Amino acid sequence: TKPQVLLKKDPSLEEISLDLVDCKRCRLSQGRSNIVFGSGNPNPSLVFVGEGPGREEDQQGLPFVGRAGQLLTKMIQSIQLQRIEVYICNVVKCRPPENRTPSEDEIATCSPFLFRQLSVLSPKLICCLGLTAVQALLKLKVSLGRLRNKIHTFQNIPVVATYHPAYLLRNPSAKKEAWEDLKKIRSMLNQ
Ligand code: URA
Repeated sequence: TKPQVLLKKDPSLEEISLDLVDCKRCRLSQGRSNIVFGSGNPNPSLVFVGEGPGREEDQQGLPFVGRAGQLLTKMIQSIQLQRIEVYICNVVKCRPPENRTPSEDEIATCSPFLFRQLSVLSPKLICCLGLTAVQALLKLKVSLGRLRNKIHTFQNIPVVATYHPAYLLRNPSAKKEAWEDLKKIRSMLNQ
């Protein structure tokens, strides 16, 4: 993890990231350039959870800095928030080869670090981006269609799910539904 990604404001976030230094717990370590721990506000009202780093993210050591990240930035701004006000991280911290979906065992190995991050961050709301994130968080095997439009919980924190921005880039017609999800997020944060 790069120094600027370490969030010194909260010693326990730093502690978690230190536990990941030189991590070789799963095979994703073999192809990575950088561990992508997470970035943003260490005391956020809203946390976004994606799937795993892509090429750009792996190169920079930062989450959502590629094309999908640009759309995520717009999604955040559409609900009157700035990227630096929220926290952004992923289920797996290392890039899967060819951006494949992380496997069950990779998720099982890496997700405890996400769970620790989320309990330290303790946001008002968690938004899962796509099926991998919501399934990993809720330990459920159901379709995104059945998980959207519902409020779930993780350690007493409300959890909602919407489409992954990479999916929205490929399927722009789903943006309408994503906008409904974002409006719901805005109103939950206002409560
Ligand atoms: N897609 C993800 O799921 N996470 C990132 O960090 C970038 C793209």
